[in-house]
Amino acid sequence: MQNELSVSQAIHARKSIRKYTGEPISNETIRQLVDLAGLAPSPWNIQPWRIIAVKTEDDKQKLMQAAYGQPQVGASAVTFVIYTDMTEAIDNVENTVHPGMKDREAEVAKQIRDHFANYSEADFHWWGRAQGYSFMSFLLLAAQSHGFATSAMLGFDPEQVKALYNLPAHAQIPAIVAVGVPAEEGFPHFRHNFDALAKIV
Ligand SMILES: Cc1cc2nc3c(=O)[nH]c(=O)nc-3n(C[C@H](O)[C@H](O)[C@H](O)COP(=O)(O)O)c2cc1C
Repeated sequence: MQNELSVSQAIHARKSIRKYTGEPISNETIRQLVDLAGLAPSPWNIQPWRIIAVKTEDDKQKLMQAAYGQPQVGASAVTFVIYTDMTEAIDNVENTVHPGMKDREAEVAKQIRDHFANYSEADFHWWGRAQGYSFMSFLLLAAQSHGFATSAMLGFDPEQVKALYNLPAHAQIPAIVAVGVPAEEGFPHFRHNFDALAKIV
């Protein structure tokens, strides 16, 4: 992958980009981006996110249709479908208990399962979805720092996307993210100033 930008440089440089040069992306680079984004933190290290990297023309066209024709999907080198599967994550929670806590694995796994036993079905899956946005944010910055541009999207029909990849009915899709070499500047940042969003107490 290209030279890395610092985190601050990547944050400043990142804008939603919806046009790409058409330059392809290697599977190795896809793996590196997913590995980087997967370093995002999650409560109890549960990591409920799962990723489908959609790269072939045919598959991108199908995903673009499910994304209401948004052209950045078809134009991307790869579009990542980020979904969360809390049922799978909690069924296998032993796999994500840190090795440093191996001696307490059963206790920690029980603690986590007991915690979620009080959740409604909807809250349980929504909790996992919320974690997916940490992965998404890390992915946007990881891609930016290595010379790619991105477009995060919520404009898609989740049922159609689930059908494309045989995802379980309970899966949540916090976002899809198009990635490619940029072919436009994007809009300048336009954000709240500090006083509109924060106070120091
Ligand atoms: C979760 C999420 C979903 C979004 N969905 C769409 C979308 O479906 N289509 C689109 O063109 N832009 C989408 N955007 C882009 C936002 O409109 C954009 O991030 C915002 O206007 C700020 O602009 P910037 O990303 O260039 O800084 C989405 C952004 C996020 C974070």
